[in-house]
Amino acid sequence: MRILIVGGGGREHTFCWKLAQSPQVSQLFAAPGNAGTAAIATNLNLGVSDFPALKAAVLEHQIQLVVAGPEAPLVDGITDFFLADPQLKDVPVIGPQKAAAALEGSKSFAKKFMQRHQIPTAAYGEFTADKIAEGEAFLEQMQAPYVLKADGLAAGKGVLIIQDLDEAKAALRKMLIDQQFGAASQTVVIEEFLQGIEASCFVWTDGKSYKILPYAKDYKRIGEGDTGLNTGGMGAISPVPFLTPAIQKTIEDTIVVPTVQGLQTDQMPYVGFIFIGLMLVGDAPYVIEYNVRMGDPETEVVLPRIQTDLAELLSAMAEGRLAEVDLQIDPQVATTVMAVSQGYPEAYEKGKVIEGLDQVRTATIFHAGTQLEGDQIKTSGGRVLAATALGDTRQAALEKSYKALAQVCFEGINYRKDIGFDL
Ligand code: AMP
Ligand code: GLY
Repeated sequence: MRILIVGGGGREHTFCWKLAQSPQVSQLFAAPGNAGTAAIATNLNLGVSDFPALKAAVLEHQIQLVVAGPEAPLVDGITDFFLADPQLKDVPVIGPQKAAAALEGSKSFAKKFMQRHQIPTAAYGEFTADKIAEGEAFLEQMQAPYVLKADGLAAGKGVLIIQDLDEAKAALRKMLIDQQFGAASQTVVIEEFLQGIEASCFVWTDGKSYKILPYAKDYKRIGEGDTGLNTGGMGAISPVPFLTPAIQKTIEDTIVVPTVQGLQTDQMPYVGFIFIGLMLVGDAPYVIEYNVRMGDPETEVVLPRIQTDLAELLSAMAEGRLAEVDLQIDPQVATTVMAVSQGYPEAYEKGKVIEGLDQVRTATIFHAGTQLEGDQIKTSGGRVLAATALGDTRQAALEKSYKALAQVCFEGINYRKDIGFDL
């Protein structure tokens, strides 16, 4: 099978790495990929939402299956584009159509979906610029801290958590009237603050049945002890020790099943990944958000624990026979630690030479923001490398992840030394 992975981060390198182990896979392509995927796949220098260029590549390379990595091409309608094109309609895309991708692309859509299907989530109200007074009144009857969310995609920056009521009202005005996040904040969702601990749940569905993948926990803040600015994710661990079997059953019964059934009831065919951001309040799980893709860096700990052939799993999803596949999970603990550029998540420099990668023995290095220049590998993004290791215990795996990163260097390398500290 010839497979194209759309995207160029750590998540996409991990997909390529896992697929490269499958005897069913004859050739892999990544668009645009990175220096890591270049070693196992053919990189195609294309934009993830450049559908005409992707079409040309699929036809030229006789690609038989496409995996959409990030949300942007899905929200832009890559799956609809393939289904509507006579030359592409038989090439399955793993990822939902645009209508269902709104679960990630619109917070308002996601909240209404959850309400309609009785899926536990924070109480909320939603407001547009002509309803500013109602929005302020809504804030007044909520308790601090106030959670304000831009409805649309805002590059991960659209969620504000504010302690002070007047500041929250000012932020609401800034979003609605000054269009702080452009069109994304034409509608604002105001939510009840949920106090708890977060975890990531990954559901793979063929539209009828589903599999729950290993749970993971990511570390979003830049600083140790979960301090400082939010990032795309500084590390991850799987499994998640506080998700007991009883809690996992509650998640499946009250969230996963109603989500998959809700998609069917609403007639939104969904072949792809559902990433459910959970907040555990006591023992009660709530949905914080849906994403229509896999998490990053969670993928770097979830896929290495899957023992089932990934190409087989993906084909089964595309062909509607996921129920027939036996999902085998490695009981070991997987850890990943992300090495980032100095300054990230604010301004940072690119183009730093990465050295020592060939010294690494204890972990698998997944490339996130790297680029091949001649025979040198250079940094090309904020998140640069993820060091993933497996071990019998979390401690053992973390030791291997950290040992690997100690052997790698680039100017300004930074990583959290405390991944897993809270568990
Ligand atoms: P989101 O983009 O919706 O995932 O929100 C970003 C982050 O804000 C989440 O990962 C949570 O840490 C936090 N957050 C979002 N909604 C809530 C909420 N209702 N209560 C508490 N924290 C929240
Ligand atoms: N690690 C969180 C995300 O992928 O959104």
